[in-house]
Amino acid sequence: MTIDKRMEAALNEQIKWELYSSYLYLSMSSWYESAGLKGFANWEFIQAQEEKDHAMKIFRYVISRGGRVILHPIDAPPSEWASPLDAFQVSLEHEQKVTSMINNLVDLSIDLKDHATHNMLQWFVDEQIEEEEDAGEIVDKLRMIEEGGGKQMLFMLDKELGTRVYTPLQPGMAPGQQ
Ligand code: FEO
Repeated sequence: MTIDKRMEAALNEQIKWELYSSYLYLSMSSWYESAGLKGFANWEFIQAQEEKDHAMKIFRYVISRGGRVILHPIDAPPSEWASPLDAFQVSLEHEQKVTSMINNLVDLSIDLKDHATHNMLQWFVDEQIEEEEDAGEIVDKLRMIEEGGGKQMLFMLDKELGTRVYTPLQPGMAPGQQ
């Protein structure tokens, strides 16, 4: 069954937000590079790639349901933050906002009795738990650093974040299969 126009429009909007997320994290990556924090920069660069994958997953899905993807303008992200803690707090708040967008999409899929979209969105429901958890953990570590951990701890965290590697997400893959 071809996707309902209201669901199609809402998913098109979500593609924009996933691409904005990619833009935001890419901007953060650039800011960390300029601050000499290569590990942080690596982490955000990979985060930006993952967000693009999220957008592509929805893109492919809309097409597979006989829908039409219309791309919307993407706002420019900020380019400066007061500190790594500030940047990660912004990330956490952003992810919380994305979680509520995903929840709204799930609500719409229930209203429209669109089981296929509801099923597809469960991957994003799970993903958002991870996204908030990851950002939250780094916020906690950065808070400890600001409360007296010092430069040494910051560089240790930078080293840790530098080990993150990118795993491409195959569009259409089920949760746990990536
Ligand atoms: Fe695609 Fe970070 O949510």
